[in-house]
Amino acid sequence: MSTILPHAEFPFTRMRRNRRDDWSRRLISENKLSVDDLIWPVFAVEGTGVRQEVASMPGVARFSIDLLVEECRRVADLGIPAIALFPSVEASLKTPDAAEAYNPNNIVCRAVRAIKAATPKLGVICDVALDPFNSNGQDGLVVDDYVVNDDTVEALCKMSLVQAEAGCDALAPSDMMDGRIGAIREVLDERDLIDVRIISYAAKYASSFYGPFRDAVGTGSTLKGDKKTYQMDPANSDEALREVATDLSEGADMVMVKPGMPYLDIIRRVKETFGVPTLAYQVSGEYAMLKAAALNGWLDWDKVIVESLIGFKRAGADAILTYTAPEVARLLAKSSH
Ligand code: PBG
Repeated sequence: MSTILPHAEFPFTRMRRNRRDDWSRRLISENKLSVDDLIWPVFAVEGTGVRQEVASMPGVARFSIDLLVEECRRVADLGIPAIALFPSVEASLKTPDAAEAYNPNNIVCRAVRAIKAATPKLGVICDVALDPFNSNGQDGLVVDDYVVNDDTVEALCKMSLVQAEAGCDALAPSDMMDGRIGAIREVLDERDLIDVRIISYAAKYASSFYGPFRDAVGTGSTLKGDKKTYQMDPANSDEALREVATDLSEGADMVMVKPGMPYLDIIRRVKETFGVPTLAYQVSGEYAMLKAAALNGWLDWDKVIVESLIGFKRAGADAILTYTAPEVARLLAKSSH
């Protein structure tokens, strides 16, 4: 008993009691991270037997389709529900009209067919945006130095169709053009592709955290200018709600907030306002900064990745796209035994 503080019952409320032992900590735990929450973004590249490390994302590689299929088998066995597929396109195929984006035999479509044949139950999500196929690295068609909206939407519809016809389970438009969700839904439904989900990158910010991704898909060096005329200003929050409302009204099945860790407040607002399936993307730059610190011995990798992902759950995310998905799945499997 303190001689300085005379009240015998002080403090009356002891928050630490519940934290004292593992059993009560487990009982009062409010959020859980499970393998069911994970989506693994992957990069496909031409060739056979090719595995190329991405310099700015240590531990992340581009895979040729044959190796990617093997990786998909592995993550399906780990219980990861879905992958998000991105292409690294040969420079010779990039043009100002991004026509390769709707070639039914492009690298994305071939990868989708191979992955769905090998692991039919693994969800395959295709990105919808022109940047990997565009010689100027922009997500849309550029006319007089401006990314034009409506012609881009038409190109995105064609791109969506070849990907859906190749057999992907979901389309994830990451381009931020106006009206693209409704337009894509319409062309899908017209062709009876009624079960292909649309996961809209509804609140996608013009972020500097995408740098390593642009290295991975080879758009960093080709990108002319920035993406501020279509991606959102990091200063804005109400605007994110309007973006989400619009995409939902056009038929989006799930919505996404991107980047992740600096935008947890947006995830929370979206989830509370709409109560719809809300995904978060822990983007390349977030992976890179955690990894760089861990490689320097400044952070404990296993612990910080799990902590960073539980933060998304606490904010209200239903699922998280993360380059750490396979490692986290392994960690979760270990810790549950
Ligand atoms: C492009 C796209 C980007 C990402 C996903 N799709 C980059 C961009 O908008 O320039 C970023 C993903 C990441 O950084 O991990 N449509």
